[in-house]
Amino acid sequence: MAELFEKLIKERQACRSFSVKPIERELIYEIVDAARFAPSACNSQPWRVYITCTPTENAKMRNCLQDDAKNAFLDDAQAFIAVYKGENVTLNKGTEKRFPSSHFIEYDVGEFMAYVTLAAKDRGIDSCIIGWVNGDKLNETFSLSGKCDIVVALGYAKEDNIRTKNRKSLRDVIINYEEKE
Ligand SMILES: Cc1cc2nc3c(=O)[nH]c(=O)nc-3n(C[C@H](O)[C@H](O)[C@H](O)COP(=O)(O)O)c2cc1C
Repeated sequence: MAELFEKLIKERQACRSFSVKPIERELIYEIVDAARFAPSACNSQPWRVYITCTPTENAKMRNCLQDDAKNAFLDDAQAFIAVYKGENVTLNKGTEKRFPSSHFIEYDVGEFMAYVTLAAKDRGIDSCIIGWVNGDKLNETFSLSGKCDIVVALGYAKEDNIRTKNRKSLRDVIINYEEKE
């Protein structure tokens, strides 16, 4: 089990070269269905998503993610999940006294995104989280309201080369790291 998870998290990578193979809407629903189980503060689940997976809708979505000629690789992405934050919040009673309902939203959405990318990878679909989002344009384009500043682009990777991860070492992450005797 641990090995499977290890493999999944090491093989998940930001994909910047998608193939033109389309993704069925049903498959995207499966991914979101899995991501619903992400943890959130007071189980607030402050997320809702807007999905595009057709060429016309994807082109409109891309237009909100490529300002200043950024993220050109998205031209081949086959689906997008725009995460609206602070939506549908269900707070446990009493918790708002200690924390305003917005206090943990960024963490919660981060958890949700992690689940989305891993659930996608588990189904052979690659992803790239996109922070370069023009939220106002997004709302205007799809007649939505609310706050979205993060989108996951999805597609089947063109090649299956797994890049070496460039990450801090364990001792750089654990403040009180102890060397083995
Ligand atoms: C919040 C967030 C925003 C990101 N925005 C972008 C983006 O706009 N464009 C892009 O190409 N990658 C984006 N990325 C992907 C990161 O660059 C990538 O995850 C990081 O370099 C680590 O590489 P890996 O995901 O391949 O392990 C974003 C990632 C996160 C978590």
